[in-house]
Amino acid sequence: MRLPNMLDAAQRKAKANYIYEHRINQKIFGGKKYYIRTYGCQMNVHDTEEIKGLLESLGFNESENINISDLIILNTCAIRENAHDKVFGFLGRLKHLKKNNPNLIIGLCGCMAQEESVVTYIKEKHSYIDIVFGTHNICELPKMLEEYTGKQKINVDSKEGNVIEFDNLYKRDSNITAWVNIMYGCDKFCTYCIVPYTRGKQRSRKLKDILKEVIELKNAGYKEITLLGQNVNAYGKDLEEKIEFSTLLEKVSKIGIERIRFVTSHPWDFTDEMIDVISKYDNIMPYIHLPVQSGSNKILKLMNRKYTNEEYLTLFYKIKNKIKNVSITTDIIVGFPGELEEDFEETLNLVKKCQFDGAFTFIFSARENTPASKMKDSLSLEEKNNRLQKLNKLINNYSKESNLKTLGTIQKVLVTSISERDNNKVAGYTENMKLVNIDAPASSIGKIIDVEIIDAKSFSLDGIMKI
Ligand code: SAH
Ligand code: SF4
Ligand code: F3S
Repeated sequence: MRLPNMLDAAQRKAKANYIYEHRINQKIFGGKKYYIRTYGCQMNVHDTEEIKGLLESLGFNESENINISDLIILNTCAIRENAHDKVFGFLGRLKHLKKNNPNLIIGLCGCMAQEESVVTYIKEKHSYIDIVFGTHNICELPKMLEEYTGKQKINVDSKEGNVIEFDNLYKRDSNITAWVNIMYGCDKFCTYCIVPYTRGKQRSRKLKDILKEVIELKNAGYKEITLLGQNVNAYGKDLEEKIEFSTLLEKVSKIGIERIRFVTSHPWDFTDEMIDVISKYDNIMPYIHLPVQSGSNKILKLMNRKYTNEEYLTLFYKIKNKIKNVSITTDIIVGFPGELEEDFEETLNLVKKCQFDGAFTFIFSARENTPASKMKDSLSLEEKNNRLQKLNKLINNYSKESNLKTLGTIQKVLVTSISERDNNKVAGYTENMKLVNIDAPASSIGKIIDVEIIDAKSFSLDGIMKI
């Protein structure tokens, strides 16, 4: 899975300087249009914001229409097998498009680009894909475009370099809420997961750089930031300067931005200090995404999750008891190799105990070269689907129950957009991350308003603005 071609820190710095100079001095692609499609998690979404920033610094303008674009980039995800089908399905359309427009440049990046088999497949079978760059090579995109001669160019480093600071070089999707990376990569090596291979080992950003970015965002009028990492609560463990996530959280809170969130927390790294800091500061939102993956100790061990069912429950109750009005969501995988009916029952029992506010559920997908892909998986797809459906039914009941509890209450909602369901309404999130469609004027977008909840569904609430 790892590809050759290593770069040292000095070379990376030179590259960073290169793009820096280019974005200031030149608009070599002035008037050209780009279209970018993102397939993955928040990390990918945020990488797309960086790619957009880079492209616009070169003079490109964003387009929503593939038919009139000069450059089309697919920022891919590799977390589950079906990700490939979606991407190659869309590439089929692009190949066709390129027949009519030979000058079109097609790019592929993101986690799939870090998979050796994908790169080989592209080299051998997809010559119409012009540029491929890995998750460690985003900063080289301007150079790749500038030097593109019509011949397929692949730039995928196997090894992550140092963290390069770009001074907020992002074209952010929103001017109300913003992602702030606090770390890259992951060191946990859960046996099913491809992320440590596609994103590399954990690299935390320096405290001062994170604080600087948050201050800039606050000054620019942002109301909410989400600290981003595969494992935010392991923050700092790789830094020379010893620092805990709870300290970072406290320092970010003191900057005074109105709302702070963070994803994702690994149960193994969740400390009492974190719970104390979250309950102490009003601007740290009472919402925790705490993936459990399974309720069976046998399966948790096979997954290398580093905690037991009992330890998870102890942490869960501690968080519930100490953080006022907290909501907790989770991720669960069904059909992991070796999962017997009794293991699945333990997952259902854990869900019954926790009554999560929401959950993302997945059928296990064997990923190239991960330890779990070599484990014996004898369960039929039909049985996996049955388990998923049973689990989803239970989870949806609890989501609805949790939402029903808010009926008649007044919630503080940060309004972020026009409602997707009804153009006459606006939408936003409560402090504990429940989506609300609100009867309120469009002028409330960007503000935190009081909302009375008048209806509750499984996945959203309805409310009216209180004046
Ligand atoms: N870093 C986060 C999650 C990253 S991936 C964490 O550790 O919790 C998001 C979710 O995708 C995971 O929580 C897991 O439930 C799911 N997932 C990851 N790899 C998977 C695989 N091979 N098959 C099925 N689901 C997977
Ligand atoms: Fe993957 Fe586990 Fe890391 Fe999450 S903690 S990204 S599931 S290896
Ligand atoms: Fe997918 Fe990569 Fe994120 S595999 S989930 S885009 S880290």
